[in-house]
Amino acid sequence: MGRIALVGLFVAGATAWWHGAQIAAQSPVATTAIGASVTFTKDVLPILQKNCQSCHRPGEVAPFSLLSYQDARPYGRAIKNAVSIGQMPPWFADEGFAKYSNDKRLSKRDVETLVAWVDKGAPEGDPKDAPPPAHFEDGWQIKPDMIIEMPKPFHLPASGTINYQNMVVKVNFPEDRWVIAAEMRPGNRKGVHHGRVNLRPPDSDYMKDAEPGLAYENGDKRLGRSSGVIDLLGKFNPGLGE
Ligand code: HEC
Repeated sequence: MGRIALVGLFVAGATAWWHGAQIAAQSPVATTAIGASVTFTKDVLPILQKNCQSCHRPGEVAPFSLLSYQDARPYGRAIKNAVSIGQMPPWFADEGFAKYSNDKRLSKRDVETLVAWVDKGAPEGDPKDAPPPAHFEDGWQIKPDMIIEMPKPFHLPASGTINYQNMVVKVNFPEDRWVIAAEMRPGNRKGVHHGRVNLRPPDSDYMKDAEPGLAYENGDKRLGRSSGVIDLLGKFNPGLGE
């Protein structure tokens, strides 16, 4: 079962986790003098707490945890690659047009620290240096004033990748409303790789005769013309997705 704070038509693309993201490029970042004494507890953990653990912790969207040294150590090389090429943390805004107050990209210094740590053999350091565990709120990250649920759960196969599934969810707003924020919460964050919510105006041809809540796979003729969809309200695409 998936839930969203606000909308008209729920178009969920549900695919199994591991089909994504292969690293294509190699690190363009040079290590600097940060080097010699860099350790996990002193230098790396604060960066992971601030920038990574919101997703990389048990029950969240990322495929592995980065809470502890034991969790992070096996992913050293992957972390070096992902932060060097800007793949992680995910941030899609184009550079050079505006300054964003919620810019999620790592500072150059943080990237250099993570790279130096991996290059030094990923030492743990003194446990006494570790900051206290970071606190995270479970559940909605925005404060919704309306929650819209999918009428029926969609059952994923235990393994493999499936095509987009499209479901109509009726909302019947009595009047036009501005939406300032929307958030999608899939019932099973491990299984749902990405999803989209589109708005469907009442006179649209798109999914005109669709039964609310029923899943129609992409390619199904009963979907009708997708030009009848007017707007993308939001996306659930926490990694780089495909
Ligand atoms: C907004 C959520 C989010 C944040 C924040 C985030 N990640 Fe991720 N990360 C993901 C998801 C989701 C995937 C899986 C992507 C996929 O399979 O398409 C992923 C994958 C990865 C991978 C594997 C990449 C690969 O394909 O080999 C690494 C390494 C990684 N993250 C490291 C980090 C680090 C380090 C940070 C912080 C600097 C971070 N992530 C922040 C969600 C996040």
